[in-house]
Amino acid sequence: MQEFLLNNYLWLKALHLISVICWMAAMLYLPRLFVYHAEANQKNKEPIATLKVMERRLLKFIMNPAMGATWLFGGLMIFANPALFEGGWLHVKLTAVVLLSSLHGMMSKWQKQFAADQNTKSAKFYRIMNEVPTLLMIVIVIMAVVKPF
Ligand code: HEM
Repeated sequence: MQEFLLNNYLWLKALHLISVICWMAAMLYLPRLFVYHAEANQKNKEPIATLKVMERRLLKFIMNPAMGATWLFGGLMIFANPALFEGGWLHVKLTAVVLLSSLHGMMSKWQKQFAADQNTKSAKFYRIMNEVPTLLMIVIVIMAVVKPF
């Protein structure tokens, strides 16, 4: 099994990167929808109903499966080649990825609150949250590509 995965390592990496792109696209778009939703005028229900559908579908059909696939293919690469843990870069990268996954969980919670018309946070809060995945992504990509230590 391990040998098979090692022989197909570049396929795992390609699938990992495809999943990462989908995950990041959704992680950057969903808080933007939350900004529009938090700003939406409660008197005009039409855009709110549309935003609810967009948020639910983005989370269910893109963000959740893409996070699962990113962990799966990344995990399989580590299983194929445990020597990757020798430097410190993978530890730092995985710490940042755990933080990104926690943020994913928080976004999932906010989506449910919006769906139930129970959002308590401001548009400014979601604007700030929109920047966090970008910062984590910069750390993750530098660790994975430059491997500074
Ligand atoms: C979810 C958990 C993740 C795990 C377990 C994981 C693990 C890995 C592993 C083992 C590699 C191969 C490294 C090598 O062969 O040198 C890799 C490559 C890579 N990962 Fe991840 N990763 C994860 C998430 C992410 C995320 C969220 C991003 C971007 C935001 C990312 C970006 C990359 C990039 C750009 C590479 C290519 C590095 C290269 O070949 O130069 N990974 N990842």
